[in-house]
Amino acid sequence: MTQDEMKKAAGWAALDYVQKDTIVGVGTGSTVNHFIDALATMKNQIIGAVSSSEASTEKLLAYGIEVFDLNSVDQLSIYVDGADEINGQNHMIKGGGAALTREKIVAAVAEKFICIVDNTKQVDVLGEFPLPVEVIPMARSYVARELVKQGGDPVYREGVVTDNGNVILDVHSMKIINPLEMERDINAIAGVVTNGLFAARGADHVVIGTPEGALKR
Ligand code: 5RP
Repeated sequence: MTQDEMKKAAGWAALDYVQKDTIVGVGTGSTVNHFIDALATMKNQIIGAVSSSEASTEKLLAYGIEVFDLNSVDQLSIYVDGADEINGQNHMIKGGGAALTREKIVAAVAEKFICIVDNTKQVDVLGEFPLPVEVIPMARSYVARELVKQGGDPVYREGVVTDNGNVILDVHSMKIINPLEMERDINAIAGVVTNGLFAARGADHVVIGTPEGALKR
């Protein structure tokens, strides 16, 4: 089974968490694209979606699924999104697709975070995947210097501007032993919008695509 087939297995299995007559929080990425394909099969049974990126919004609208502004929604029962790495405590690194800030906002509103991944994303210790940090453009060099002080090796993701008009620093060489503390410390640097550690708000359920099909934990 290819990695994309495992992503597809996870994306379709997440349909089990979707309740009728609700608005569904939808993340970003290739695994979520499979989830959106699945969600389209029950588009007449849901009210619509809240999206974490322009790319997902476009795909949802193309299927005729209504996309609501988060400000007009009081409550979301679930948020379904992928991850770049996930550990055994359901802490994640996200932001490979540069959508981390909107993802973190929608995840904060949702009652349950359903993380959908293929089995290559499971790790014991986070940090092999470079940690994305969204930064206000004028603060890029300052934030990079501060990240070096915190033990990282930040690399400017050239040519990428987020949906919020900001830039991304990918921080290499981080062995993230205490994700909660690191999430807080990096977010405290002036000029950081947010970082891709999802530890304070981790996943509630994980759907893992494997060669044997989708496993839930
Ligand atoms: C985007 C994300 C994605 O969820 C993450 O990068 C995983 O992507 P994919 O499903 O394509 O492997 O955080 O900002």
